[in-house]
Parts: sequence; structure tokens; C-alpha cells
Amino acid sequence: MSRKKVTVIGAGNVGGTSAQRLIEKQLADVCLIDIVEGLPQGKALDMMQSAATEGFDSHIVGTNDYKDTANSDVIVITAGIARKPGMSRDDLLSTNAAIVGGVVEQVVGGSPNAVIVVVSNPLDVMTQLTWKKSGFPAHRVIGMAGVLDSSRYAMFISEALGCSIKDVRATVLGGHGDTMVPVPQYSTVNGIAITELLPKEKIEEINERTKNGGAEIVKHLKTGSAYYAPSASTVAMVEAILLDSGRILPCCAYLDGQYGVKGLYCGVPVELGAKGVRRIIELDLNAKELADLQNSVNAVKELAGKL
Ligand code: LAC
Repeated sequence: MSRKKVTVIGAGNVGGTSAQRLIEKQLADVCLIDIVEGLPQGKALDMMQSAATEGFDSHIVGTNDYKDTANSDVIVITAGIARKPGMSRDDLLSTNAAIVGGVVEQVVGGSPNAVIVVVSNPLDVMTQLTWKKSGFPAHRVIGMAGVLDSSRYAMFISEALGCSIKDVRATVLGGHGDTMVPVPQYSTVNGIAITELLPKEKIEEINERTKNGGAEIVKHLKTGSAYYAPSASTVAMVEAILLDSGRILPCCAYLDGQYGVKGLYCGVPVELGAKGVRRIIELDLNAKELADLQNSVNAVKELAGKL
């Protein structure tokens, strides 16, 4: 059996580290593509020169030519600019819409059966745009945000409790922006909701820190945004797709009536398999959570309307 193939579009920090994680885990062969000449080639060759030491047999090639992306099983889109301090993800809208729209047009012809994982910001709107431009069925276009936001939430929970991160499963719904909705009742330590384990004020503090999780890093880095946790989250989704594992992860998915939302991409729990979204899970939310989710959906809708 030949190895699976993943194309990573954008050889910046998120694309580069995603590619690295994919080949080190031997999940697939990787095609890393960027418009900057030499950047994907240099990074790919550098990674290949780590294979002997790391002990992986997966291959990575760097290219500027979309012909090399043909027959991919999964396409990861990281292309676009990252935010600088003081910028919101929404400030990237028009620049990244042009970039993402362009790469989608170039990549889909060669890989008509691929599942696309969108990582570029503003995430929810870029995922919607990718779906429209690709002509793919909605289940084969998914955005990465919830896994990242939940991973940040889980880290803050384990830190607050002094417990092992291995037992923490956290849930964040809604758009990947300031209105995202951490959901304490579905965030657990080995099945025990954090509402049983942490005082209300502490949970609220952690929820706020989660919502600002990306901005906190932009503030430190000054010249760019996070990439270690974003690439880990991206690869978790790609792995679930390549292995047809059926993992349930919060992802940006096309809502067709679920949660009372129709025709919009937003963050919800999703069962992932080889064809992308197998199904969307509708959680039983309380009135406050539903109102917060509606607020987040409205923010995504408003931003999508600006395109
Ligand atoms: C973040 C950016 C990548 O949340 O959206 O760090």
C-alpha cells in the first residue's frame, strides 16, 4: 500500500511545523508548497536531512508548482498573513481572502477527492470561502480552531487543578475569535465536569484567558502568532482523517440547521473520518451557553457579510 499524501499550503511557521509533525509521525508523505521561491524547498530538504536522526521514512518535497500537489488525500491551507500585536484575526479578512481564494482555485483540480483542512484566519470565514471556491461537498471542507482553543483551555484547567493534562478534555464552541464559547459543563477531568472541581470565579478567569489565548502569544512574539499549538491541533485533525478514526473533536463545520444555524461555518463538535465530517454532534446547552453561541454565530455571519 502506498503512503497517503498530504499537501500543506504555506511554508511559514504553521505550515512548516505541521509538515514536520506529519512526517515525524509517519502519517503521510507531504508536499509543502509556497509562492516564495526556495522557502518550501529549503525547509523540506532540511526536514529530510533529519530523517536519519529522527528515524522516519515519510518523504517531504518542497515546491512552488501546484502540479506537485496532485492526488493529495488531505490539503491543509495555512496560506496568508498572521496578525501582529493589536490586530484581531478579523483584520486579516481582505488580505487573506484573496490569498486563500487563489490557492483553493489552484489546488482543487489536481486533488478532487481530498479533504481540506483550513487553518488561515479569520478561520470561520476562510473555511466558508474555501468551501464555496472549491465546489467540494461541505463535509470535505473543515476548519481548524476548536481543537486549538480546547487545547489551550485544557492546559489552563490542568494548571489550575495541578492535575495531569492527560485526563483533561475541554470543549470550546463557536467562531475562532473574541466571541468563542468555552463550555465548562462539557469540559472534564476524567469525566468529572470542571464545574464540580473549580470555583466559578476561577472558571470564568480561565474562560477569559482561553478566549485571549492567541492574542497573549501575539503579544509576546510581536512579529507573528502562535504555531506550535496550532500545528499540533491541525495534525490531530489530519490524523483522524487519514486513519478514519472517528475522533470527536471541535471543528469549524458547515451547519445545516444544527444549533439553529443554517448555511454557515462555525465551531461545533464533529466526528471525523476519511471523508471529513461524518456527523455533527448537537450538545444539550443551557440558556447562557446557547445565547453565547448565537452571539458568536452572529459575529461570524457579520464578518462573512463583509466579504
Ligand atoms: C491563534 C491564531 C493562530 O489562535 O488564530 O493563535
